[in-house]
Amino acid sequence: PDNAAVADDGWLTIGGCSVRDLAAEFGTPLFVYDEEHLRARCREAVEAFGHGNAYYASKAFLCKAMARLAYDEGMKLDVATGGELHIAISAGVPAPACALHGNNKSVAELRMAIEHRVGHIVVDSFDELDRIDALMAEEVGPTPKVLLRITPGVEAHTHEFISTGQDDSKFGFNLANGDALRAVERARRSSSVELVGLHCHIGSNVFVASSFGKAAEVMANFAAPFDLPELVLGGGLGVPYVEGEEAPTLTQWGNVLRDACDALGVRSRVGVEPGRSIVAVAAITVYTLGTIKPIPGVRTYYSVDGGMSDNPRPVLYGSGYESFLPRAPFADRTAEGRLVGKHCESGDVLLREARLPADAAVGDLVATPVTGAYGRSMGSNYNQITRPPVVFVRDGDARLVIRRETFDDLLATDVGH
Ligand code: LLP
Repeated sequence: PDNAAVADDGWLTIGGCSVRDLAAEFGTPLFVYDEEHLRARCREAVEAFGHGNAYYASKAFLCKAMARLAYDEGMKLDVATGGELHIAISAGVPAPACALHGNNKSVAELRMAIEHRVGHIVVDSFDELDRIDALMAEEVGPTPKVLLRITPGVEAHTHEFISTGQDDSKFGFNLANGDALRAVERARRSSSVELVGLHCHIGSNVFVASSFGKAAEVMANFAAPFDLPELVLGGGLGVPYVEGEEAPTLTQWGNVLRDACDALGVRSRVGVEPGRSIVAVAAITVYTLGTIKPIPGVRTYYSVDGGMSDNPRPVLYGSGYESFLPRAPFADRTAEGRLVGKHCESGDVLLREARLPADAAVGDLVATPVTGAYGRSMGSNYNQITRPPVVFVRDGDARLVIRRETFDDLLATDVGH
C-alpha cells in the first residue's frame, strides 16, 4: 500500500500502525486496508473520468465503510445484486448513485432497483426487458433509466473465467449477430424504460491498454447514430500482483479511454467501473505461520491459519502472489516452499512457489500483499472457518470495519435440529 513503512524495530507499519500490534489486537488472519490509499485511488478515478462518471465496482470488496468511503470521495457505486445494493443503501449511499448490473437479475432485484430509483439499471438481455415491462405494468415505480450492456466481440487478453467481451459470453447483447441493434430499437420504442446509454465490460485484470481502446472504438462506432447521453466502458484495469508485473494507472487508463473517445468524436459522457484497481493494492492479509513440513528432496510446506476461504484466487485462476514476514519486510527470501492454508484439500494453496526468509519459524506472522480485491468478497466459510475481520488503518489509528465471525455466526442461519 501507499502508506507502508518500516519502523525502527524493523516491523512493517501501514497507515502508521505496526502490523505486529494489529495482529495482537485483532488476531489473524486479518485484512489490513490502508484507508488513505483507498481514498487516493477513488479520487484518482474521479479525477481521471470526471465527477459522476466513476463507479466503484463494489463486488471487489464491499462493506458499509467501503461503500461510504467510495461515495464520500465522489464515486458512484456499481452493484451486481440486490445484496450489494442493500449494503450500499445501508451505508447511506443514495440509490440514485447506484447502478444495478447482472446477467440474470431476478424480478425481486429489478423491483427493488425501480422502487429505490437507482441511477440506472444495466439491462443485459431481452428476458430482462420483458421482466421490466411486466413490473412497469404493475406500476411499481417511476420509469427506470437504463443502459444496455453490449458484448463488443473484443478479446481482453486475460483469464478465460474473467473475460466477458468475446461473442461467446453469457453477458450482454451481442453486437455481431444483431442483438445489440435489436435491443436498442426495442428500448427506444419501449415506454417501460428510458434508454440513456450503452455499456460494455471486456474483462477483468486487463493489462493491455489497447484492449480498452479497441472496445471504446467498437462501442463508439456502434453508439454514434443513437446520440445517447452515456457510454460506460466497464472496469477491468489490472494491478501488479507479483514482482516485475506492471499495470497502467487509473490516470493512464483514463487517458487511453479519453484519447480514444476524443479521436472518435464521442459526445456522450464516458463512465467506467473500476473495482480491483481501487482496492487491490490497498490491503495485505496477515496470517500466522503454523505447521512447517519439510519433505527432503521434494519441498517444504508452510501452513497458515487461513487459505482458500479468505483468498480463493490462486485456486480459481492460478493467480500469483508474494509473501513476506512483517517483522522483516525486506529480508532476503532464500527459503523456497509452498504457502498453503488449513483447509482439508491439497488444492488449498496460496502461493505455489513462495519465498520466505530462511529463519521463518512457527509462530511468525506472514503477509501476502495486494489482497484487497476479490479476497474477502469471494471468501467462504468452507470447513466452517470463521471469516477474518477487516481493519482500516490511517494516521496511526486502526478502525475495525468488519469484525471476525464467531462460531455463533456459523449457526446464525441454521434453523434445523
Ligand atoms: N463492471 C462489470 C460489469 C464487471 O463485471 C466487473 C467485474 C467490473 C466492472 C469490475 O472489474 P475490475 O475493475 O474489478 O476488474 N473474481 C475475479 C474478477 C471478476 C470480475 C467480475 N466483474 C478475480 O478475482 O480476478
